Amino acid sequence: MKIFRKVSELKKNIVSIKDTGQSIGLVLTMGSLHDGHLSLIKEAQLHNEFVICSVFINPTQFNNDDDFRSYPKKIDDDIYKLENIGCNLLFLPEIQDVYPNGLVKKKIVNNFRNILCDKFRPGHFDGVATVVDLFFNIIKPTNSYFGEKDFQQVKIIQELVKINNHNIKITQCPSVRDNTGMSLSSRNSKFSNDQLKIFNLLGSKIKEYINLLKKNKINNLDQLKIELLQNNINKIDYLEIRNENNLEITKNYSEARLFIALYIGDIRIIDNFKLY
Ligand code: PAF
Repeated sequence: MKIFRKVSELKKNIVSIKDTGQSIGLVLTMGSLHDGHLSLIKEAQLHNEFVICSVFINPTQFNNDDDFRSYPKKIDDDIYKLENIGCNLLFLPEIQDVYPNGLVKKKIVNNFRNILCDKFRPGHFDGVATVVDLFFNIIKPTNSYFGEKDFQQVKIIQELVKINNHNIKITQCPSVRDNTGMSLSSRNSKFSNDQLKIFNLLGSKIKEYINLLKKNKINNLDQLKIELLQNNINKIDYLEIRNENNLEITKNYSEARLFIALYIGDIRIIDNFKLY
């Protein structure tokens, strides 16, 4: 696997890949790769001749410095996993190279805003859209793959592609879940043993309530909220049922998901679950 750290080196290499007429599949990550990321790489490998993965912990999408500094970093492990799966190229840039003019973020997308994570992490999606736009402009892939765990992020990236006329097909890929039904997340690698127990309990509570919702045995989430707070969930940002196309609150479950964001200790967990 080729590893490039400089935007200029990567750009030269991309020109030679494009000269050979190969399609490029891109998977953008912040590292600490787990099976969810690897499923995106596999999907990219199925539909593209050349697959690029980036590992870049993007400072402009964090709401505070502590969260940015303590974000898990496992680059040796990541390189091993990417080599093993047969990824063709890893882009591993430095902050100064991605943001040569300082840490600026732009508000590119206005749709799907002021709800869900945008309400609780102001500016986060501007940081995401800014860095994804930068990477799309540098790499100009044929296809790019994003996980459904970050559902609102996928919607915002689809909007970004339309607004900035990127000629890139965005593929939304299903979450890879653990045996309790929760999506894998890099942040989960920071759980202590006690926090892992709380997380597993959270998984089974959510599963229980998803079944009740699907069978129309409950019509609100009040009891679930109470039970989660009683079971060591620190803080709930949201627990909402929304239509998966327009992200509006709905009571019709035919195209709906339960969206959650909450904390175990200071670790934020987000996930979503189909209700059909
Ligand atoms: O989903 C992520 O890991 C990040 O938000 C992304 C898309 C790599 C942008 O930094």
